Amino acid sequence: MRDPFADEILDLYKEKNWKEIVEKYHDHPERSKVLWVFPTEDNFQFLKECLDSLACDKIMSVGCGTGLLEWMISEATGIPVSGVEVDSAWWNSKYAPPTFIPLLLTSSKLDKDIINVLQNSTNTALTFCYFNNRPAFEDYINFFSGTCLIIIGPGDSKGVHTDPKPFNDVSEDWLLYKWQEVRSSSDFIAVYCKK
Ligand SMILES: C[S@@+](CC[C@H](N)C(=O)[O-])C[C@H]1O[C@@H](n2cnc3c(N)ncnc32)[C@H](O)[C@@H]1O
Repeated sequence: MRDPFADEILDLYKEKNWKEIVEKYHDHPERSKVLWVFPTEDNFQFLKECLDSLACDKIMSVGCGTGLLEWMISEATGIPVSGVEVDSAWWNSKYAPPTFIPLLLTSSKLDKDIINVLQNSTNTALTFCYFNNRPAFEDYINFFSGTCLIIIGPGDSKGVHTDPKPFNDVSEDWLLYKWQEVRSSSDFIAVYCKK
């Protein structure tokens, strides 16, 4: 179904104008229709530097929603980003929002293809943005063979629930490498590496 807000974003997407998307819509009241967190150019640069120093050359984003964040990361950093979602019936329905990357769709019990990708992900950063499903998070992490994990989400002061949270919410296998706030939004990008 057409949505004027989503259409404005789509027009900028077609022009590859991710800079205007983050500048213009980061505090728009309807922003969460397409994405929960709109990083700054500095945030994208921070991600690029972290991944370069951790020898990661791709990102797999779980629960990517529309894939707008994933598309903007790949445009801003040159790093290829894939995105995984559940509920193919919803994403293929006429009510679904637009998508900005091709979605890898799985059922809630992880599909073999996705498990296979996770098991062969040496130089991949596994990313969760505003994810909210602890059992699924554990499942993905258990199959993941890589050593870089990124959690994007609200800090405690924001009063918004996600699972996992960006800080103090993963097993001791993971060491917090670096983090950065997204503007002064109380949303954070937390980068972990495997001990
Ligand atoms: C709050 S939304 C965040 C979407 C997007 N990352 C963003 O920041 O706008 C959480 C997403 O996780 C997805 N999700 C939940 N369980 C999942 C699973 N087992 N595998 C993949 N995605 C899942 C949901 O369908 C939903 O789109």
